[in-house]
Amino acid sequence: MRYRDQWCGEVGEELVGQQAKVAGWVQRRRDHGGLVFVDLRDRTGLVQLVFEAESNAAVHQLVQEVRPEFVLSASGIVVARSADRVNPNMTTGRVEIIAGSLEVLAASKTPPFYPEDELDVDETLRLKYRYIDLRRPRMFRNLALRNRAVQAVRRYLGDEGFIEVETPILTKSTPEGARDFLVPSRMQPGQFYALPQSPQLFKQLLMISGFERYFQMAPCFRDEDLRADRQPEFAQIDLEMSFIEELDVQNVIEGVIRAAWKEALDVELTPPFPRLTYAEAMARYGSDKPDVRFAMELVDVTDVAAKADFRVFAETVARGGVVRGLRAQGGSRLSRKDVEDLAAQAAVFGAQGVLPVWVEEEGLRSPFAKFVGPEIMAELVSRLSARAGDLMVFVADRTPVVEASLSALRLALAERLGVERTGWAFVWIVDPPMFEYDEKEGRLKAQHHPFTMPRLDRVEDLKEKPLELGTYAYDLVLNGVELGSGSIRIANPAVQEAVFEALGMTEEQAKAKFGFLVEAMDYGIPPHGGMALGLDRIIMLMTGESSIRDVIAFPKTQSGSCPLTGAPSSVAADQLKELRIRTT
Ligand code: AMO
Repeated sequence: MRYRDQWCGEVGEELVGQQAKVAGWVQRRRDHGGLVFVDLRDRTGLVQLVFEAESNAAVHQLVQEVRPEFVLSASGIVVARSADRVNPNMTTGRVEIIAGSLEVLAASKTPPFYPEDELDVDETLRLKYRYIDLRRPRMFRNLALRNRAVQAVRRYLGDEGFIEVETPILTKSTPEGARDFLVPSRMQPGQFYALPQSPQLFKQLLMISGFERYFQMAPCFRDEDLRADRQPEFAQIDLEMSFIEELDVQNVIEGVIRAAWKEALDVELTPPFPRLTYAEAMARYGSDKPDVRFAMELVDVTDVAAKADFRVFAETVARGGVVRGLRAQGGSRLSRKDVEDLAAQAAVFGAQGVLPVWVEEEGLRSPFAKFVGPEIMAELVSRLSARAGDLMVFVADRTPVVEASLSALRLALAERLGVERTGWAFVWIVDPPMFEYDEKEGRLKAQHHPFTMPRLDRVEDLKEKPLELGTYAYDLVLNGVELGSGSIRIANPAVQEAVFEALGMTEEQAKAKFGFLVEAMDYGIPPHGGMALGLDRIIMLMTGESSIRDVIAFPKTQSGSCPLTGAPSSVAADQLKELRIRTT
């Protein structure tokens, strides 16, 4: 026990009268002349060391040079603090160690910021000095919780017969729809590897190989625009199974989630989680990742609106659009300005405008009441079951615009009105459409990915009515955040080729990109399916953090850089020459 025999945060009253040796970093040093106090920190917490000139002049002399973030090892006798000196904010606040020996193991410059949870430090600075930032108790707690969750998932999946296999990082483009990160090959100049967006193709190959149950804590790389819940480099709890149906995969995922919540948070979840079809989710919440912790559901009033002599409604209905609304309970206290601000958010999603109605004891107040007349207004009130004190908002437009804007308004209103949103509201979103039409590119896109099994009667359906096809895919959503998605895969080369064709890929393109998988399908492919959960997002929700950067040890900034290492950076000219790369 050269450096320590106790953790700082665990020096308790049961040790009073005994010797204790602790090691760690100096949080604070207070000099009261003959008496110097040092709060020493390790990953478990803080303990107070007392250096007395009177009883031990040598250590009292030595502690004079100690500054914050110095690394010390010290030992001494544990004593109870007198009642007036007890610190209730410290878990070890009832005791202190009267130091008998002190070893200064390392000095520290004055840090750019002190690693205390309460300090508000600029994030770029935090990331530049991440090793100091990670000294903050909150950061350690987050990463320790992440570790507990990961261990629990590994244990659970191991017990269920899954085997962990690492798939390549230097590989070929994988089909998750983001941009690839490319790595130039030196041995084959002009050729590039791609970093995997997911292990999708390899896990399917493992099923063809007969592994039956695969999992991996998989590093994934996607070059996309970053947000609070997206990183260019992130981890998936990725799994795949053979000879199964959707429910088998969903049951395993529920087991994974349950094990993780139990181990990391000591919360007992009770799956099965509720299921909503994609169509239901869109109709009721306007979103395929609804926050179902509160109601405020969308109501379709197109039929009522169609009867009104109001240009906005008439034109929308004539163009095949819809009119939907929602009722914010207690929302009539919002001012016109408040509603305008919220409506401005909806405009982001393309909505022309938001039509508000204040429902008050004295009657209705609305800028469009005079256009639609009292009967239609009364019908709208009744359809939304609105009562005095409520606010109703309506949007009239094309279906996707109405859904996107009301979904955003629903969340914004809940936030603004302080609607209670607590608990763990998991929900499965099942049976989404196979394809969506990308208006910008003028072609079909796979809603999940092109290896997802469409619900077909005949292969020709893919050509004849692609937009009507459902698929065996499923997402797991928690509190309005998409945690993961998966599907039953295509296990038939003819169907696979027809899907590529529907997506507008020529045979050559499909072959060049995914030919190896299609070829493998000819050598005995079992029915199979799987799912991937975003590990970082799970930990973000578990810890209550608002950014996944706070649950990743060394994350990238919003602009994709790492202030600590300076990546990405330019490289030496001869390195580029070797790769036969010239930059412009
Ligand atoms: P998908 O692309 O939906 O599916 O990804 C699965 C989950 O991974 C997480 N995720 C991310 N987390 C952080 N940063 C990102 N940039 C990021 N992108 C995705 C999300 C998401 O739900 N191969 C399929 C799964 C399958 O079919 O088995 C896949 O990757 O939580």
